[in-house]
Amino acid sequence: MIAAIIAAAGSGERFGAPIPKALMHLGDKTLIEHAIANLAPVVQQIVVTAPAGYEEQIRTLVGSDITVVTGGATRSESVRIGLEAVDHNAQFVLVHDAARALASTALSKSVIDALKGGDVAVIPGLPEVDTVKVVDAAGYVTSTPDRASLRKVQTPQGFAYSVLKAAHSVPQDATDDAVLVANAGHQVRIIDGEERALKITTPTDLATAMTFIGDAQSFRTGVGTDAHAFGEGRELWLAGLLWPGETGVEGHSDGDVAAHAICDALFAATSTGDLGPNFGTSRPEYAGASGTQLLQETLNIVTKAGYSISNVTVQIIGNRPRIGARRAQAIAAVSAALGGVPVSILATTTDGMGLTGEGKGIAAIATALVFK
Ligand code: CTP
Ligand code: MG
Repeated sequence: MIAAIIAAAGSGERFGAPIPKALMHLGDKTLIEHAIANLAPVVQQIVVTAPAGYEEQIRTLVGSDITVVTGGATRSESVRIGLEAVDHNAQFVLVHDAARALASTALSKSVIDALKGGDVAVIPGLPEVDTVKVVDAAGYVTSTPDRASLRKVQTPQGFAYSVLKAAHSVPQDATDDAVLVANAGHQVRIIDGEERALKITTPTDLATAMTFIGDAQSFRTGVGTDAHAFGEGRELWLAGLLWPGETGVEGHSDGDVAAHAICDALFAATSTGDLGPNFGTSRPEYAGASGTQLLQETLNIVTKAGYSISNVTVQIIGNRPRIGARRAQAIAAVSAALGGVPVSILATTTDGMGLTGEGKGIAAIATALVFK
């Protein structure tokens, strides 16, 4: 028989979502459900390593045919724990990442076919297109491996059960299982990987993964605006940055109109209310909150509502400050607060007309595109 372990116990820290990555939606299913659906046709047992505290939620989601165990502190530890729940009669074990939710059934089948052909360790890999450098701690290049001999490896990785069991008998940490098996002296075969087996690490990866499932996308847009009057003696915070020497604005929070407009555009796109109820004067814990803090909180609310962000744009309207020289820095600050999504920041004046043209304050208009 053939068993599979799906490592799903990570917290998804780099993604920046409030829930574990395996429970995030990609189209109509969570990542763990996609991974199971793609593996189930070719294996007889599936063991899932769940993040502590999420075992019951995952059991309910995946059904009673799947064994759910509590994962460990590292991926290797999770796999080792998962291996203990694998049927001892297993001939082969596939080790897969929930984060590679879209790896196809055909890829698992190719791994299994190579195992049946006599290899004891089989892993998918894609050719490296970039030139890769090895660097030392001081940041200097020490060597340049021949690109033609490099592969970016993926999962599912397949092993003879006895070989994987022996490799994991001594606890040790590694970023994949093949290295443990190789260290134990076994040959590891590489087969062709696939683009759709990408590891979903950031929101941008999730957007890329969406392009592989194609039809299930539901896009929504939203618009948000904000304006604040200048207030003497206040620092100016705009687009996540402090602008030294500029007059700040009045406000309950730090008065970052660009961040606030983006929050409202995201609330509009996802029908999750607006700035007032979410962070307004009725929520004293947000008094003085920074623009980036509110953007991070908004990302949490949007993610909980089941949406991913495709991109956001914001146009800042006012005579001052001049945005141009710090545009890249502002884009980086806003994008980081939103988990790395694409951000555009524009600026304009209004030919001396209106509140901002008269130099009374700053305004911003933002748009957001989201999908689920
Ligand atoms: N994983 C696991 N147990 C851990 C850590 C990771 O089972 N202690 C799993 C993750 O759930 C994921 C896979 O190993 O499916 C690959 O890890 P990664 O992509 O790094 O996911 P996370 O650890 O969740 O993400 P991050 O490193 O950003 O926190
Ligand atoms: Mg990790």
